Amino acid sequence: MTVRVLPADDPAAIAEAALVVRRGGLVAFPTETVYGLGADAFNVTAVARIFAAKARPTFDPLIVHLAAAAWLARVVRSTPAAARTLAARFWPGPLTLVLPKGAAVPDLVTAGLDTVGVRVPDHPAARALIEAAGAPIAAPSANPFGYVSPTTAAHVVEQLGDRVDAVLDGGPCRVGVESTIVSLESGRPTVLRPGGVTREELEAALGQPVDRANGHAAEGTPLQAPGQLERHYSTRTPLRLLSGPATAPTGTERVGLLAFAEPPPAGFAAVEVLAPDGRPATAAANLFAALRRLDARGLDLLLAEPCPDEGLGSAIMDRLRRCAAGAV
Ligand code: TXA
Ligand code: MG
Repeated sequence: MTVRVLPADDPAAIAEAALVVRRGGLVAFPTETVYGLGADAFNVTAVARIFAAKARPTFDPLIVHLAAAAWLARVVRSTPAAARTLAARFWPGPLTLVLPKGAAVPDLVTAGLDTVGVRVPDHPAARALIEAAGAPIAAPSANPFGYVSPTTAAHVVEQLGDRVDAVLDGGPCRVGVESTIVSLESGRPTVLRPGGVTREELEAALGQPVDRANGHAAEGTPLQAPGQLERHYSTRTPLRLLSGPATAPTGTERVGLLAFAEPPPAGFAAVEVLAPDGRPATAAANLFAALRRLDARGLDLLLAEPCPDEGLGSAIMDRLRRCAAGAV
């Protein structure tokens, strides 16, 4: 059976997808960051299907997506002042806030944590879907656990096609990397996962320093955001993150290159240039699709050039480090 792929800009398609959600089904939908695999956040059975479809461990909590900030009271116990400031400044947009969990949210959604990650996505189809479903939608990225996130409907169909009830096709995602996850638990705002909103932007909005959680959880410490898992976003082909610009390969291996800007050196079996214009935003938008294309070539090794580890570049470097972790 082939999955139903529906045009995200068609109101009838949104209504149909919302009905799937209301009946406890799974709908993959576009957001400005990556495609999500959504289910009614208040329906435990439906949420369990998300974990099964992705082969995702249940210790990894899901983000709850709202149609508007006004829905916050349905899923959180309280909203600290800093959260209100960030929501007003960045929602709809690529920012997830970790807040005290409301009683209506099933423990499965939050992996038993007393907090819940929430965001209002900046994609009209995503908000229309949530609105029409009438309930918050729990959604991880729509990829098998540990693999590269999807930024087109085709990416979702390739990997999860037979496990979702419908896919809303809204074209390529504008931002291309996931939302920034900010915890306000400790009093001091902390970025658990760098993403579409930069730390610099958060600091400017709050008028105070914002911490950056360690790259990954140390052994024995609880996992704050399993996006912190050291190996994640991984290609099947081993990927090595370079410390500077690439030079031509010398051995007999077939090597692919993920270059940051042009012109890339010669001698590679395949090359993807992330940002022909040198802009980090362009690199972020191209990142996951480029990784997937390189991974599909069946090469021996992928090399990735670094980009400046600041602003949106921090999110790109975070994904590349995790992709490279565990590779030889
Ligand atoms: O941009 C995004 O955030 C995308 C789109 C679909 O919205 N979603 C996404 O979901 O990236 P996912 O499941 O692939 O990554 C969500 C991350 C996980 O690492 C999870 O651990 C963390 O969010 N997270 C969720 N709830 C949390 C909580 N209560 N405390 C700490 N981390 C949480
Ligand atoms: Mg993910």
